[in-house]
Amino acid sequence: MTMEGKTLLITGADGGIGSETTKGIAKMGATIIMACLDLNDAKPVYENIKQESGNERIEMMQVDLASLSSIRQFATHFSQKYQQLNVLINNAGVFRWKREETLEGFERTIGINLLGHFLLTHLLLPILKQTPGARILNVSSNAYFQGKIDLHDLHLKKKYAGVKAYDSSKLAIVFFNQELAERLQGTGVTVNALHPGHAATNIWNMWPGTWYQTLLFKILKMLMKPTVEAAQNSIYLASSDEVKGITGKFFDNKKMKEVVPKCKNIQLQKGLWALSEKLTGLA
Ligand SMILES: NC(=O)c1ccc[n+]([C@@H]2O[C@H](COP(=O)([O-])OP(=O)(O)OC[C@H]3O[C@@H](n4cnc5c(N)ncnc54)[C@H](OP(=O)(O)O)[C@@H]3O)[C@@H](O)[C@H]2O)c1
Repeated sequence: MTMEGKTLLITGADGGIGSETTKGIAKMGATIIMACLDLNDAKPVYENIKQESGNERIEMMQVDLASLSSIRQFATHFSQKYQQLNVLINNAGVFRWKREETLEGFERTIGINLLGHFLLTHLLLPILKQTPGARILNVSSNAYFQGKIDLHDLHLKKKYAGVKAYDSSKLAIVFFNQELAERLQGTGVTVNALHPGHAATNIWNMWPGTWYQTLLFKILKMLMKPTVEAAQNSIYLASSDEVKGITGKFFDNKKMKEVVPKCKNIQLQKGLWALSEKLTGLA
């Protein structure tokens, strides 16, 4: 499989699953823009990917998905430099045990996992639409099964629990994915969500540290996939001809999966979209 001549942008490109995804696609010859929060931290990962893939067409660009102005600056910078975008992978994600906020006061999990990527995707739509067969991938998780969205308390001010915030952000990504696919019908741009599989990456570092939780987590980590395996679903969806033209779906282990019934709540889907537009200043 070659991706020569294609341009791919991935957020959280220096993280566990993001770096393996980037490396896999770099080996296929694509031009890659690694969107990273901290370029100093990302540099060794970037150097390693260039060395192992032998691909020199890789660039790092800074973006903080917890800041709307940073996302806007990033999109302007990207659009000035690149005329095509074949694949956008909305991969970055956070889990927070304790409630934190983004620059604009959004609860941090929903702020980064959903709203940051919502704005970024919108700002890149003109360039995606002008690239034939462009693809958007939204990295969700099977954790969405347990998610619950209250449009009157999206930022979980009434009662916060880290797991609930994470699961709900991943459900929100499924709704975003479905609504975006519907809105992009006829443009040639496809959009699909995916579960990478559970891998022992830094995302779990925020897990609390009582002795029994740490022990339980050590056992769970041993049962998780190697990170390189967790990257395969994104690599497949970014590059395979088998998924050409498929849109609005959810993939697990390179297979299309029916979403659970709660994802068919169209009223909630439309409501979440309208709220996301308002919060990100797109309305
Ligand atoms: N690992 C799993 O078991 C698992 C399971 C299901 C789904 N997922 C999903 O897979 C994706 C990748 O996660 P991972 O496991 O690879 O976690 P990870 O190693 O923690 O990587 C997350 C990436 O997101 C970046 N990020 C965090 N905050 C950011 C911000 N404000 N702006 C820009 N980038 C930011 C991180 O950058 P810094 O390192 O600089 O903070 C890092 O590069 C996430 O969406 C996650 O929810 C993971």
